Amino acid sequence: MHNTETAFDVLIIGTGAAGLSLALRLPAHLRIGVLSKGPLAESSSLYAQGGVAAVLDEQDSVEAHIEDTLVAGAGLTAPDTARFVAERAAAAIHWLQRQQVPFSTEADARTLHLTREGGHSHRRIVHAADATGRAIEITLEERVRQCPHVTVLEHHVAVDLITSERLGQAGRRCLGAYVLDKEQGRVRALAARNVVLASGGASKVYLYTSNPDGSTGDGIAMAWRAGCRVANMEFNQFHPTCLYHPQAKSFLISEAVRGEGGKLRLPDGSTFMERFDHRAELAPRDIVARAIDHEMKRLGADCLYLDISHQPHDFILEHFPTIYRRCLEYGYDMTREPVPVVPAAHYTCGGVLTDLHGRTDISGLYAVGEVSYTGLHGANRLASNSLLECLVFAAAAAEDIAARASEPAPPEQVPPWDESRVSDSDEAVVVSHNWDELRRLMWDYVGIVRTDKRLERAKRRVDMLRREIHEYYGHFRVSADLIELRNLALVADLIIRSAQARKESRGLHYTLDYPNSLPETRPTVLVPPAPRPFSNLGDGESPAPATKR
Ligand code: FAD
Ligand code: SIN
Repeated sequence: MHNTETAFDVLIIGTGAAGLSLALRLPAHLRIGVLSKGPLAESSSLYAQGGVAAVLDEQDSVEAHIEDTLVAGAGLTAPDTARFVAERAAAAIHWLQRQQVPFSTEADARTLHLTREGGHSHRRIVHAADATGRAIEITLEERVRQCPHVTVLEHHVAVDLITSERLGQAGRRCLGAYVLDKEQGRVRALAARNVVLASGGASKVYLYTSNPDGSTGDGIAMAWRAGCRVANMEFNQFHPTCLYHPQAKSFLISEAVRGEGGKLRLPDGSTFMERFDHRAELAPRDIVARAIDHEMKRLGADCLYLDISHQPHDFILEHFPTIYRRCLEYGYDMTREPVPVVPAAHYTCGGVLTDLHGRTDISGLYAVGEVSYTGLHGANRLASNSLLECLVFAAAAAEDIAARASEPAPPEQVPPWDESRVSDSDEAVVVSHNWDELRRLMWDYVGIVRTDKRLERAKRRVDMLRREIHEYYGHFRVSADLIELRNLALVADLIIRSAQARKESRGLHYTLDYPNSLPETRPTVLVPPAPRPFSNLGDGESPAPATKR
């Protein structure tokens, strides 16, 4: 029996910068659905501080932006992708200006103010003070809510993709998605000609992260289960400077603070970055995060300090009003004293492999934004290239979808979600316990500094957790927490397997067993097993069976 409830031309899973800009770029004659796990604006995009990289100054050049991206990417950035993005950056900013995003300007109120961040050879970061993401997200949200052809489904969690292959039909095509309506507590089957994963990254797989709760790698996990390749999952970016305070969950101190002269200091007040890199505080993030980690471990310190108090009081308030206010709430006046900081998981450089149109391995399935691997970030993302990637690839995917709109459509019917053999959970503690265990073990064993032994330990534990989660998933009705845990555990496995495959240190992947870079390198591409026939009672890919010891 088929009882598809809703059919879309384009179903966009995610409403950050990637998802919202895509929705706005698509032609208005298409029926578009956008999903968010929580309130529409809640996303990493909302919390982005520093800004969006783009060449807008006459002294700067697209070639320099490409070169900086390649240098940060440490030999693994795809030059074609870097060029594709850098060349389209200025147009992406102008598009945002047309949407009325209130960027910071010079005194003439027309010229955009450009700030500087680590790894950039020029001032090229367009920003809205220190809350750029909020300015973009809120503006795009307003625009999307004005579009009658866009159906907004908040508090809806995509569970899995529906593909022809998993239904035992011919071809390899995405047909829609199963989606948990959190308010109604039921899973809906949404058919769509095109599905776009715009679901963000997976930094929540680590205990300490700058990301909001939703960054659980759902899109990467769903795509993998459906049969898409993923790449470079070993490259997790740790932001060097999150506020260190027990109540300051996830609060980032923007790299722009270092861009505007902020110094990192040890507990005795001395600076140390010059010992690690000639660019000191403006070295790429992997170098700064590793230096902080090294000094914290050497000194047994809980945190180090970021100090911009030498800059005039008004300058700090003008450039960093949000950070200033938040730090003050926690008892630190950054105009007068250093602020305690620690590194935290910040960005997933790897993801679902796409081409320059955002197309994945499955026809009708796109991936855009942090969920994707386009080749731009290589072994390390250059600051403020992420929002840019969201905007450029959203435009490219929208163009591709529009161009293909006249192609024959798949049937607008998909099978309903089958709940006939599951019951309500009587042991939700399994989910909360495994959630904590997974994130801690990833932090301890698969963090900033890795070893073969730590990775092996992590793999054994993740295999065990995945078996438990698999069993639990097969017996009980899905909940948002269970969906996220299942995805996080799969993503953890992909990260560990990718890290184990890389026998060198490069960019964000640093291992004591292979401290040098190899002369030749390539991206780590994982190929999934053939997708199983679809069943919501089990994982598309079963975890490794238990081995007898
Ligand atoms: P997100 O903005 O994370 O949005 C993901 C969306 O997907 C959300 O709407 C979520 O609800 C939805 N979603 C996820 N899973 C599901 C599911 N299963 N079902 C339904 N919906 C789902 N980058 C820069 O370039 N410049 C910066 O200055 C900058 N600062 C940052 C500061 C912070 C604190 C953080 C956390 C990140 C920062 N980044 C910055 C990185 C950048 O913000 C993100 O990479 C980017 O915003 C990702 O956008 P996105 O649209 O891909 O995903
Ligand atoms: C920041 O403001 O430091 C974050 C910039 C980024 O992640 O690109």
